[in-house]
Amino acid sequence: MQTVVVNLGVRSYPVYIGHEILPRLGGLVKSTGAEDIVALVTVPVVRGLYGKAAEGTLLKEGIKPEVLEVPDGEAAKTPEVFMEVVGRLLGLNAGRGALIISLGGGCVGDLAGFVAATYMRGVNLMHVPTTLLAQVDSSVGGKVAINHPNAKNLIGTVYQPRLVLADTALLKTLPPREVGCGMAELIKCGAMLDYRLLESLESDRDDLLRLDGARLEEIVSTAVRLKAGVVAGDELDYGSRMLLNFGHTIGHAIEAATAYEGYSHGEAIAVGMVAEAKVSRALGFMSEKEVERLEGLISAYGLPVHVSGVTPESIMQLIAHDKKVKSGRWRISLPKRLGEGTVIEDPSREAVLSAIREVVGD
Ligand SMILES: NC(=O)c1ccc[n+]([C@@H]2O[C@H](COP(=O)([O-])OP(=O)(O)OC[C@H]3O[C@@H](n4cnc5c(N)ncnc54)[C@H](O)[C@@H]3O)[C@@H](O)[C@H]2O)c1
Ligand SMILES: [Zn+2]
Repeated sequence: MQTVVVNLGVRSYPVYIGHEILPRLGGLVKSTGAEDIVALVTVPVVRGLYGKAAEGTLLKEGIKPEVLEVPDGEAAKTPEVFMEVVGRLLGLNAGRGALIISLGGGCVGDLAGFVAATYMRGVNLMHVPTTLLAQVDSSVGGKVAINHPNAKNLIGTVYQPRLVLADTALLKTLPPREVGCGMAELIKCGAMLDYRLLESLESDRDDLLRLDGARLEEIVSTAVRLKAGVVAGDELDYGSRMLLNFGHTIGHAIEAATAYEGYSHGEAIAVGMVAEAKVSRALGFMSEKEVERLEGLISAYGLPVHVSGVTPESIMQLIAHDKKVKSGRWRISLPKRLGEGTVIEDPSREAVLSAIREVVGD
């Protein structure tokens, strides 16, 4: 098992990463002195697979969790489900010492985290991420949110958990498409922050796709360490945390243009990364060879490098809209070279549009 500490002063916390470490959850919860209600927030699929094991480790320590089941996927991140979970906590007389544990992917984590951040102005939170994306990305860093019907993640805040326990053995039941989503975020981390990670993703592809325990533990720990470093330097996302947005400017626009159907988040940012790498090339940073290498890696993980059913102009319009809503300058995060990211202010519209043109079509 590896431990990565997210250094945030009084809000610092450990992320435990290892194969078959779920049985340690009970002991860890006990050591934090949980005396109030312990609520395990999860979705039916994950409850069916790992609910008993998670409950069992808590029961072993004399802690009886209340299991709160919420709908799967984005359907968990609605104001209605938020109110329902808050109502359940109120009904259980949960006080300020309550502990909320998310057991599931990024959707459960975001909802449970937002409940923990707001219920009585904040109660204890722990994450047990069960998707690769949640283990390498969403469970670390404290961003929590629910969706407005017209805008994803609009209602949210930054609220750090007390700890994160990432058991890579839980990934063995993950559908391949979900594995791909996590891989897209890993490729993003490598391309922006760590050339060696990118090389490992290339050389260890077969082991990783086979969900080999030792390889996974290593790669998840590396990604968490990288993310922890970025978060420690910019917890509230006003500066360097933007480096984690590679692929996301164009990727989010692709998600919106396709109405969040057809392409998963990971798939949309995979195409986004290809397009933004082409912007980097147009700006004189990445070489054609590097762009091709990145594209090859993305394809090797079964992720798309093209998007169909949308027009380049519609994607461009959505980016411009996003920029207006955020009322700031238009910034795009991209690798200057593989392994070293930068943030570009107001890139040329022509460079971006022509890069988007290259990824639209079959
Ligand atoms: N907070 C952050 O910093 C941050 C970062 C990135 C993404 N996100 C958010 O994360 C969400 C996406 O998270 P996700 O990709 O984990 O999706 P998800 O939570 O919807 O999980 C994907 C699917 O996998 C299933 N599943 C989960 N664990 C499983 C397992 N071990 N075995 C089998 N099936 C399993 C789930 O039931 C679900 O159907 C989005 O809402 C996104 O906005 C947040
Ligand atoms: Zn992402």
